Order: sequence, then C-alpha cells, then structure tokens
Amino acid sequence: MLTELSELKTEALTALDSLTDETSLENFRVAYLGKKGKLTAISAGMRDVSPDLKKEVGAKLNEVREAITSGLATRQEALQSAKDASAVQGIDITLPGRPGLGVGSIHPLTTIRDLAIRTLRRMGFVLADGPEIETEWHCFDALNTPTDHPARNERDTFYLNDGRLLRTHTSTVQIRTMETVKDLPVRIIAPGAAYRRDEIDATHLSVFNQLEGLYVAQDVSLADLKGTLEFFFREIFGPQTVVRFRPHFFPFTEPSFEIDVKLEAKGKEARWIEIAGCGMVDPAVFAAVSKTRGDNLFDPENVTGFAFGLGLDRLAMILHGITDIRHLIENDTRFLTQFS
Ligand code: DAH
Repeated sequence: MLTELSELKTEALTALDSLTDETSLENFRVAYLGKKGKLTAISAGMRDVSPDLKKEVGAKLNEVREAITSGLATRQEALQSAKDASAVQGIDITLPGRPGLGVGSIHPLTTIRDLAIRTLRRMGFVLADGPEIETEWHCFDALNTPTDHPARNERDTFYLNDGRLLRTHTSTVQIRTMETVKDLPVRIIAPGAAYRRDEIDATHLSVFNQLEGLYVAQDVSLADLKGTLEFFFREIFGPQTVVRFRPHFFPFTEPSFEIDVKLEAKGKEARWIEIAGCGMVDPAVFAAVSKTRGDNLFDPENVTGFAFGLGLDRLAMILHGITDIRHLIENDTRFLTQFS
C-alpha cells in the first residue's frame, strides 16, 4: 500500500502539470480526491493493514492527500494569474488613472429650491405634494377659475385624452391639501413642476418649476402675508431688499398682488422685478373645498388664509444673472461648473 500511495502521488502531481483550465482541474479533483476517487479507493485498504503498520501507512496517506491538495491549489492559482495577466495584456497598469468625469455639483435650481424651503420651514411651513397629472377640478374649478378662462384653453394647457391635464401651476396642491388635512392651521409649501404649452424661448419652457405656499387658520391677515413674504425675499436677496406688493388679479385670491423686488443687475440702475403672485385665499376656494370635504373645517365664514406662488427657475435666473432659461436644462458642463 505504501508503494501504491507513492505511485499515486507521482502520477497525480505529473497529471496536474498538464491541466490548463477550470474544468480539467475540477475533473482532476474528483478523480483523485473525490468520494469515488483514487485516493479514497486506496485508503479503503487501511482495513487490511496490520496494526503495527497502521501508523506509518496512515501518515503516508495524509502526506499524499496533502501533497495532491496543495498541488491542485498551486496549479489553480497559477492558472488564475496567467488569466489575469492576459486580461491586462497591452495595458500599462503602471500608468496613473484618468481624471474621469470629475466630481459633480449641485444644480443651481436645486440650490435655490432648497434655500427657499429652508427659509420657509423656519417660519413653520411644511412640505406638501400633489400629482403632476391633475383633474380640471384641482387645477381650475376649485381654484375659482371660470370655464372660459384663457388658461384652460387647449392651446395653453396639455390635456390628456381622458380629460385630465398636466398641472399648469402648483396651486393645485392648495386644493389637494385642504381636501385631506384633519386640522387647522394649514401651513404648507409645495415645490414642483408645472406645464404649459408655451413657445420655448429664453424665458419660457414647457416644463418649469414653481413653489406654492398656503397658510390657512382662523385669523390670517394681509399683514401676515406681507410680513412672511417680505422676510422671505430679504432672506433670499439680502436684508436691504425692497419688496413691493402691486394689486393684481388671480381667480383664487382676493385681494391679489404681484410682488416686485427692487434689484440692481450688475452695473445697471436698480429696477423692479416681478417675482411672485400672492393674495388672500378667495372664499370661493374655501367653499369649493368644503363641498368636497362635506364638513365645515374650511367654512369661508370661519377661516382666512393667504397663498403665494413663485417661479423657481426665474428666481435662480435673477439670482445668478442667467439670461436664458434653457441653460437650466441643457446640462452643459461649461454652464454647470460655474456653480460648483
Ligand atoms: N398660480 C399662479 C401662476 O402660476 C401663481 C400664484 C399667484 C399662486 C397667486 C398663488 C397666488 O398661490 O396666491 O401664475
């Protein structure tokens, strides 16, 4: 048996040298070390070995098993490193890495949106949300917009075949929120996309970004509206910023205002720039919401509120002196790296 083992060892180690792939290595393992392999077959002979030789034969058996096992492992490693080497053949792996695409930075639109959110959260506003595919009810009717209002025109609004539409403003979230909240006060902001069938040019895109705000409670006044928004715009544009409320019309607020801020473009004289719309929530809006809710939480006799909406793209453009809104969506790194 000792001779048999010695022979097997020589045979196995010679066989190993000719193996060149994973399959043959696995076949080798099965043939020599497997349950039905040659080594197992020989070791069955242990039964018949006389007791005084058992120790010696046992030791030999272990030695041979170890020799074959480690021979196999060495061969496996050699094959693997040959494979690795051929994979990088022709490539100088000592060259330094390429700089690649570089580190990204936050988009100016995201920066301004986050600044706006942060500022309003400090005043107790919480984030709210609503779908971009909307019903006419949430986009127009509940917002007191008459059926013949130009904004409802098919030339201005993207309609789906089923009568729904892509929201033309984030004011829809006012309705969505008031329809579902459990209690007063409501103090929400809703940043998000809005869609209009505008001709695309330096100041218009068919998808743009707005931020809506709504505060409803039992005693919200015009003074609250002014104080909140003046503070907000001074946080955004600087503490000296002059803010003006100019009477305007929106169907869903009464009275309504447009807000202008007085800003100097670099090197030019300061001028008024229109920046947002706002107003006291029209009782008709509370009445519409009450109709859906079926309760009197928003009874127009009991609650008052203010709302505002502004264009985030426009805000970013004003802040950074961007003259073409299309820069904001073109992903041109020459533009974007200026904000990194
Ligand atoms: N939804 C208006 C628009 O897209 C902006 C607006 C004006 C929102 C007045 C308001 C508001 O909440 O009170 O032009």
